Amino acid sequence: MLCFTYQSLYGSLLMPSSTLDTLSLSPVYQLIYKQIDAIISGESDMIANMANISAVLYHNLEDVNWAGFYLFKQNQLVLGPFQGQVACIRIEMGKGVCGTAASKREVVVVKDVHQFDGHIACDAASNSEIVLPIMFDDNLIGVMDIDSPSIGRFSTRDQAGLKAVVGLLEKSLSDK
Ligand code: SME
Repeated sequence: MLCFTYQSLYGSLLMPSSTLDTLSLSPVYQLIYKQIDAIISGESDMIANMANISAVLYHNLEDVNWAGFYLFKQNQLVLGPFQGQVACIRIEMGKGVCGTAASKREVVVVKDVHQFDGHIACDAASNSEIVLPIMFDDNLIGVMDIDSPSIGRFSTRDQAGLKAVVGLLEKSLSDK
C-alpha cells in the first residue's frame, strides 16, 4: 500500500525544479516562488498556469485586490485569467499601465494610480499597481498585473519577486 506522510507529500510539492537562487528573494516570495514552481513546472498550458499563478499571488500577497494577466492578441491586450473584481476586457497598446508596460516591454511600477496619466480604473479600490511584461522567444505574450488598495504598495522586493514568478511562467511555455 502506498503511504505518504503529510510532510513527505508537502515537501515534494514544494521542491523547486528551477535553478534560480531563491535566497535572493524576500521570504514571502521564496515561498510563492517554490509553490508556483511546483505547480507549473512540466505543464505548458499557459492559461492553466496563469490561472494558478493568479490564485497563488492573490491569496498569498498581503494588501492586493487584483492579480492576473492580459494576453497580447491582434495588437491589443485582452483579459486573461485573474482573481479579483471584474476587469476591463481590452486595452490598447500604449494605454493605461498595462498598455504602457506592454508597448515598452518594461516593468512599470505606479505608486499612485491617480497620478498616472491614462490609468484605466477597473476596480475603484486600486491605488497602486505593478505590471510586468511576459516574453517568449523575444515575442510579447502578455502582461502580469497586480493592484493594491494602498498607495506605494509595490517595492523593489515585490519587483524582484514578481520578475522571478514571470520567469517561471516564461520557462513553462517551452515545457513539453
Ligand atoms: N489599471 C490597469 C487596467 C487593468 S486593471 O487594473 C485590472 C491599467 O491602467 O492598465
